Amino acid sequence: MSASTLDAYLNSQSPDRAAVSETVRFLATAAMATRSLIAQSSASALGAAAGGRNADGDFQRHLDVSADEAFLAAARQAGVRYYCSEEIDSAVDLNGPQQLALAIDPLDGSSNIDTNVSIGTIFSILPARAGEPAESFLQPGRNQLAAGFFIYGPQLALALTFGAGTRIFVHSPRLGTFVEAVRPSIAEKTDEFAINASNYRHWDDAVRLYVDDCLKGSAGPREKDFNMRWIASMVADAYRILIRGGVFLYPGDSRRGYANGRLRLIYEANPIAMLIEQAGGAATDGISAILDLAPSSLHQRTPLVFGAAREVARIGRYHTEPSVIAERSPLFGNRGLFRA
Ligand code: F6P
Ligand code: MN
Repeated sequence: MSASTLDAYLNSQSPDRAAVSETVRFLATAAMATRSLIAQSSASALGAAAGGRNADGDFQRHLDVSADEAFLAAARQAGVRYYCSEEIDSAVDLNGPQQLALAIDPLDGSSNIDTNVSIGTIFSILPARAGEPAESFLQPGRNQLAAGFFIYGPQLALALTFGAGTRIFVHSPRLGTFVEAVRPSIAEKTDEFAINASNYRHWDDAVRLYVDDCLKGSAGPREKDFNMRWIASMVADAYRILIRGGVFLYPGDSRRGYANGRLRLIYEANPIAMLIEQAGGAATDGISAILDLAPSSLHQRTPLVFGAAREVARIGRYHTEPSVIAERSPLFGNRGLFRA
């Protein structure tokens, strides 16, 4: 494949997508600025508390706030109509001429800022709708016109989809632009899972059972050994899954406030789900496709499972039909877990 630039790819989109392409171009510029800030500042300064809390009650760090400002400025420059971000309570009417709504997680994985671990910016572009600003964001992810994330890692990369496959572009400091690197295709099977296992005791039976079966490895019902990774930056886990496969779970659990997990539907789960589906994978809330969920509020959370299509489907069966899974046989001693 001959290397093509992000600009060339954006220019090749159909004319009715011109405003969406233009928005991605401005986001890419904001990502380059955010990348420079991360590279040049001391980690402790970036990670220092900025004094406020975001819409979800998390402490904001300086970098959360600077990133939000950079991407809000990009939205204005692109002429976007509505903006919504993890860092602000309500959707904003920017009064831009383009009938687009941009939802953004300006800094995903921000607990990793001061540890020099990859973090990122996730975005979702929807068609603007009539009504209050929030209305435009309360539509299923299936309506997204484009979605993607920038990852600030050893490389600055962009995973992007316009709904016709997923592309990964890597920033070339030499060329000063993003260059296409990979067209990811997620294998439908995997032997690598990602979950924060410290929450084991808070999970429901379906999730525990699934993980138990993975951990039993070649001696258990899966008859193969599994590897586990958990980076605590969803962008980094998602990037790994785009590149080499795997499955990610952030289920709901019994901790207070975690009934629907941790991740936000509109600006985290929806864009990741579109990227993953467009790369051949699947994304659900455990049972239903993320992209078919109808959001009812801006910052609502959703359980999230994404990655290898067959593994995601299997996890769904642990939730919906545990009795028909062969490995639920008495042989493996798990009978009775799903008592009525
Ligand atoms: O944005 C939420 C987030 O930081 C994700 O990037 C990450 O996957 C998750 O939270 C980590 O959560 P926890 O600290 O509970 O493992
Ligand atoms: Mn996040």
